[in-house]
Amino acid sequence: MKALVLSGGKGTRLRPITHTSAKQLVPVANKPILFYGLEAIAESGIKDVGIIVGDTKNEIMSAVGDGKKFGIKVTYIPQAAPLGLAHAVKISQDFLKDDEFVMYLGDNLIRDGIKSFVDEFRKKKPNSQILLAKVPNPQQFGVAELKDGKILRLVEKPKQPKSDLALVGVYMFDKNIFEAVNSIKPSWRGELEITDAIQYLVEKKFTVIPHIINGWWKDTGKLEDMLEANRIILDTLKKENLGIVENSTIEGKVVIQKNAEIINSTIRGPVIIGENCKIINSYIGPFTSVYFNTVIENSEIEHSIILENSKVKDVRRIADSLIGQNVEILKSEKKPQAYRIMVGDSSRVEII
Ligand code: G1P
Repeated sequence: MKALVLSGGKGTRLRPITHTSAKQLVPVANKPILFYGLEAIAESGIKDVGIIVGDTKNEIMSAVGDGKKFGIKVTYIPQAAPLGLAHAVKISQDFLKDDEFVMYLGDNLIRDGIKSFVDEFRKKKPNSQILLAKVPNPQQFGVAELKDGKILRLVEKPKQPKSDLALVGVYMFDKNIFEAVNSIKPSWRGELEITDAIQYLVEKKFTVIPHIINGWWKDTGKLEDMLEANRIILDTLKKENLGIVENSTIEGKVVIQKNAEIINSTIRGPVIIGENCKIINSYIGPFTSVYFNTVIENSEIEHSIILENSKVKDVRRIADSLIGQNVEILKSEKKPQAYRIMVGDSSRVEII
């Protein structure tokens, strides 16, 4: 069995972060989202993994490499334009051949991994198996309508959803999916939808088994989802200190990574502080992840994700935020006293 991981796309809902980097590489609890998926695939015993890449190809390739560090062998498959998930399957036929495969969307996170689903698929040998999860906002997903545990219909982002069961971004297929992806037409958003391809399988009486998952699952396309995923993962970490702590209070589950320095500060977990960070005279509150080489001085921050090489100085309180790489947030003593802001396109700044 093989795996096909989708790591192209534009990540429009995470702009401006995704103007400069791949959405799948934004870290959750200091680990790129994509890595959780690759680890889950490796854990399910799959070694041969194709990764679909787009504009952010170079970045993905340098982060993942040949896959050895995950115990897998990676083949990169370039997709010239984001023409849909079913299009990604179509262009991967040379790699997938006649093998069964699991398709995994690189921005999805599933708590319990995928091993049990892959095992079930291997045992029951249906033509396809899909995962479903109850969501409060089904209009934003592919939605399944079931009857007596069987799939009646699948619709991509319906205006009036017939159920609250969303398609999770993990699907299992056998070779019959190629007939489906070659038969469907692009949707209103101009994409070849995998949801339509699976609907084709259902209509042509192929066996498609739905599996409702109970553990949490997140499609991390939006800021709120990133913060929620970060909360959930941070809560699962084990306390660890590989850095230097001076004159500081560390409470609860706190991970301090290599060479990080915590000086005259209070850290209230769950929190992760990345390699070579400096936290000075500051408060870092629950559900915060600080990636590497970032400095936080005379400031308070909680329930946020801050990426690498950034600096926060003399800022009273930051919450519910996603701060990118190489960002500076500073207090200004200059006259006139005013907000001085240089932010990228599609940014959002809330002031008090
Ligand atoms: C895609 C699929 C959708 C699925 C979702 C899961 O949506 O088209 O059916 O429910 O992933 O993450 P997209 O991320 O392209 O909006």
